[in-house]
Amino acid sequence: MSNHANRPTGWQLEQNASQAYERYLVPPIFAPRADQLVETAGIREGDRVLDVACGTGVVARRVASRVGTSGSVVGLDINDGMLAVAEETAADSNPSIEWRQGDAVDLPFPEEAFDVVCCQQALQFFDDPGAVVEEMDRVLTAGGRVALSVWRPLDYQPAYVILADALERHVGDEAGAMMRSPFPDWNGEELRTLVQDAGFDDVSVTIDIGSVRYPSATEFVRREAASSPLAEPIAGVDRAVRDELVHDVAEALHRYTDDDGIVSPLESYLVAATR
Ligand SMILES: C[S@@+](CC[C@H](N)C(=O)[O-])C[C@H]1O[C@@H](n2cnc3c(N)ncnc32)[C@H](O)[C@@H]1O
Repeated sequence: MSNHANRPTGWQLEQNASQAYERYLVPPIFAPRADQLVETAGIREGDRVLDVACGTGVVARRVASRVGTSGSVVGLDINDGMLAVAEETAADSNPSIEWRQGDAVDLPFPEEAFDVVCCQQALQFFDDPGAVVEEMDRVLTAGGRVALSVWRPLDYQPAYVILADALERHVGDEAGAMMRSPFPDWNGEELRTLVQDAGFDDVSVTIDIGSVRYPSATEFVRREAASSPLAEPIAGVDRAVRDELVHDVAEALHRYTDDDGIVSPLESYLVAATR
């Protein structure tokens, strides 16, 4: 995506969406949950680990610090922009991380190539999630482990209900749908069945109830929008429309506002299983 840093009007996107994702969303949202996922996966020194749909690589970076130089880490994503930020961010990683462009539904690895597969917040974006979990099963060694995380449905994420509704009203249907897309209507039993049907045993599904914080409603809207696939169209709305959007979000988030800004519950499922 192009850089809008010098555009006088609009949202003043100072970087592309992948950089914004790493800067704005990874520290408050994805990094703490990456630690949790790595813990759930039970990663040990020497493990060969694949991070599917690695994005800008936060899970892979956490994994690298655990497996040591006797292990290995590969991060795979379909999006070159995310991989470019991943590579730059992990330039000093030891062991180094291998970054691969590819589609999760057709993993470019032989059978039994890994001891652990992790996938943080991406299952909901795959056209055929069941087929991807089967691919995870194929590339794992016997006794290998998989650890996945997926947000719970939108009803459990009050700040994103508000943001998606406001984006729909002020920017359009596509922007509203985009902000709802990370939150699939899956329940825990459906996730369990999905993983079992792909051939995994000992499936555990747990609910994590966390939170997300931003210094203000304005920053919530600005950072989420800048890091999204619709960063450019959202950045391009008129200042008056943007002000109304922020005003509506701030008003609706009133009961989640405190001296440090805004805070909202953020709930996810963590799924672990053995091959
Ligand atoms: C919300 S991000 C999560 C990224 C990363 N796992 C993290 O925790 O920050 C979802 C990622 O899924 C990737 N993705 C979507 N469809 C994919 C596919 N079919 N194959 C591989 N990656 C895919 C996107 O490019 C994006 O980087």
